[in-house]
Amino acid sequence: MNRDVAGQFHDRVEEALTGGTLVRLLLAGPRPGIAARQIIIRPVVLKSGPCFSVVHREERRDLTHNHPASEVIRLAREWLGSDYTSGHLHTPSASYQLECHDPARPRLSKSAGVAAPKPEDLQHDRTRARTVDAGATWLQRLGVTLPNGRVAKGMESKFRQIHRFLELIDPLLESATFPKDASERVLVDMGCGKGYLTFAAAEHLARRDDGPWRVRGIELRPELTALCQKTATELGMSRLEFVPGDIATAEVPRADVLVALHACDTATDEALARGIRLGSSVIVVAPCCHKELRRTFTAPPVLARALRHGIFAERQAEFITDALRVELLEWAGYETRAFEFISPEHTGKNLMIAAVRTRKDADPVAAAAVRSLAQGYGIRQQHLATLLGFDLSAPSTP
Ligand SMILES: C[S@@+](CC[C@H](N)C(=O)[O-])C[C@H]1O[C@@H](n2cnc3c(N)ncnc32)[C@H](O)[C@@H]1O
Repeated sequence: MNRDVAGQFHDRVEEALTGGTLVRLLLAGPRPGIAARQIIIRPVVLKSGPCFSVVHREERRDLTHNHPASEVIRLAREWLGSDYTSGHLHTPSASYQLECHDPARPRLSKSAGVAAPKPEDLQHDRTRARTVDAGATWLQRLGVTLPNGRVAKGMESKFRQIHRFLELIDPLLESATFPKDASERVLVDMGCGKGYLTFAAAEHLARRDDGPWRVRGIELRPELTALCQKTATELGMSRLEFVPGDIATAEVPRADVLVALHACDTATDEALARGIRLGSSVIVVAPCCHKELRRTFTAPPVLARALRHGIFAERQAEFITDALRVELLEWAGYETRAFEFISPEHTGKNLMIAAVRTRKDADPVAAAAVRSLAQGYGIRQQHLATLLGFDLSAPSTP
């Protein structure tokens, strides 16, 4: 690797770690065979004193270790370049990005700094302390809990879903980079239905220190948005608003975080395309009812006999659709994970796709993966690809 450029980045890392200015260091773009998709390093204060939390974000779990600055400096040098292709260093005065896809030609860029953490954000257990409070008034007003704080009958899985959603949103926000110039950040929940997760997001984000956040729910059915808006107004949640509209056409000037959980069939593609076009820093979707490709895909010869069974064909269509979505997000500059959102015993619609924007340039490897997957199944059109102007029929070499 070009030591001058990488060395400059590591010098900045060392300064930030030893000078107490590190807000976050993110290592992304794992090389083949590396289990963790990202490593996120941030300062924490433990009972034994200040140190650095190093989170290895794997497909299904986070592994956390705490280290002193000297060890983090050593590990960052060891991992960046050999295991990870990009490093993102954030401090209040500046942010730096080292790209070393090609170790012989690393690139270093500098951008604006980010807000310094408040002392309470350095507490080790802050995420746990911030999940949903069963006694919250909004949960009662939406019928999820009772006045005694117990979960209402039949709402147990919805309560778990809210809880899980809040658990996973913080790590995503922490690994994302947001524009620094805006007076507020905006989370848009597309196809928000009765607003369970929209209310949860609004309450949760209001407690973070990186706002102010505005939260907007968009929903096709005006009777639902009217009801949700009334509840939000009565509860004095002035930064939460509900707008009737279609995911594809509703006016959305800004979405730093875009959420679309269980939006039907290609409505998920509409939401993904809007998030990508708006340059959302974080996109989270939980797809449902995958009808589009069920009608159009052709089984590759090796699968043809097995896929004469409807259930296999259905599951295959779901898999191809979501795999294409993940690769299209990667192509568009997002580090993307697909994982089980909640246990399948609560709902079959339990896949979540979470994407954090890490690049501005298109990824040719992901583009080739999209095309070879689509072409392997005889797919010429898929809604997200069409919305992004991505030609599935072009040659699939990277
Ligand atoms: C299954 S519900 C999920 C609600 C909510 N996201 C949740 O997970 O609790 C799907 C919602 O998306 C709405 N929806 C479906 N297609 C839509 C579209 N094109 N634009 C806006 N809303 C849509 C439906 O009306 C419905 O309320």
